[in-house]
Amino acid sequence: MTNTSIFKNDPKIIVALDYADAASALKLVNQLDPALCRLKVGKELFTAVGPQFIETLIRANFGVFLDLKFHDIPNTVAKACTAASNLGVWMLNVHASGGLEMMQAARAAVNNTTTKPILIAVTVLTSMNQASLNKIGIQTDLATHVLNLATLTKEAGLDGVVCSALEAQILRAELGKAFCLVTPGIRPANVNQDDQSRVVTPRDALNMGASYLVIGRPITKATDPLKALEAIHQECINLKL
Ligand code: C5P
Repeated sequence: MTNTSIFKNDPKIIVALDYADAASALKLVNQLDPALCRLKVGKELFTAVGPQFIETLIRANFGVFLDLKFHDIPNTVAKACTAASNLGVWMLNVHASGGLEMMQAARAAVNNTTTKPILIAVTVLTSMNQASLNKIGIQTDLATHVLNLATLTKEAGLDGVVCSALEAQILRAELGKAFCLVTPGIRPANVNQDDQSRVVTPRDALNMGASYLVIGRPITKATDPLKALEAIHQECINLKL
């Protein structure tokens, strides 16, 4: 690793632990290096294995992004954020569509903890298109709605949003250098796209303004996951952003 690397002490790759049980997840985790990646635990794994598993990952020196996308009344979300922060996670998230007051309550709750994880929001789920947005009563153009929700997220004092790398350029330009952009839909060149339709390479995503890359199957399904992780790391390591 060179001293100029943007990866130094701050791995940009977040490996998505999309597993149904602890044993399968740990089999993968035991092959990974916490100096090269963080880990994302979502609703499936967390619901199956619970908070002790998060503590296991943290004890193994991994930064954990707890991807539970809280969306509820402000008081409930605030308490959930406190509980997540107290687990020692590195990052957690809420739904921006929960509104300004909900996000402000989440912000205040996280600020009151000793760990103060990075707090981000989901804008519009990428599974939604213009038609599905219209069906829930939102007539705004999808890209504008994403920008509106990201702007509201910043106004609430949150640290950033989850977004497609394809949205990163405009969000970076509109919301500034310090806003954290976490981007899934990443595929190294020559790797299977799986069910992702709009993919971007790790290097391009970072060039387009992404702060962190969420990567699942290109690493978790690789014959040698550590080798796949190292290859992506190498692909990005000399980027000067
Ligand atoms: O295997 P793959 O790299 O496609 O995994 C991407 C991860 O990012 C999965 O956990 C998926 O749920 C998540 N994600 C996504 N698109 C979003 C938000 C999250 O692919 N818009």
